[in-house]
Amino acid sequence: MKITVISSSPHRNGTSARLVSEFIRGAEEKGHEVFRFDAAFEDIHSCIACYRCVETGEGCVFKDSMEKLNPHLLDCDLIAFATPIYYYNMNGQLRTVIDRFFANNEKLMGTKKSVLMMTCEDDTTESVDGPILSYQNMLRYMKWEDCGVIAALNCGDMESMDKTEYPQKAYELGYGL
Ligand SMILES: Cc1cc2nc3c(=O)[nH]c(=O)nc-3n(C[C@H](O)[C@H](O)[C@H](O)COP(=O)(O)O)c2cc1C
Repeated sequence: MKITVISSSPHRNGTSARLVSEFIRGAEEKGHEVFRFDAAFEDIHSCIACYRCVETGEGCVFKDSMEKLNPHLLDCDLIAFATPIYYYNMNGQLRTVIDRFFANNEKLMGTKKSVLMMTCEDDTTESVDGPILSYQNMLRYMKWEDCGVIAALNCGDMESMDKTEYPQKAYELGYGL
């Protein structure tokens, strides 16, 4: 299976990046082909809802790092999203990428699978309830199949993360695909 991972934290060695590397380790050990995109280190303009992509069929007016990601999004079997929680939601870096799916909306719909990995400081589900619901609704709309959600609670820093089994769960999620 071809997997595209969209990691979104600006912390290269942070908590969500840890889940990403374990997920990829598992997926690659299983023989899957993985492309990793680190959204926080890329140049990605927000969607301005100009609808030029719909009107012209020539893609987005912004020729930025999405040009690098789009072929992998279109070609892959599974998209893995990874985000730290910011104000009870996915972070802006990931949201910006997802909004830009709009330029290829129809082509992306259909047979893909997806996973979501999140890290947050809270030790209750309060911070992840909203993004889980919006992920599930997005999947229903895109007609994608959910293959798993990891919500790493009480993982606001690496010290806390290291005491948990979430990295192991991320490895198993990747390996289990
Ligand atoms: C702008 C901002 C907003 C945050 N909002 C929340 C929040 O709503 N709930 C929460 O539990 N943690 C929140 N956090 C903490 C981060 O989710 C947490 O530190 C996470 O582990 C960071 O992931 P990273 O190491 O991958 O960047 C916030 C952090 C920042 C910087």
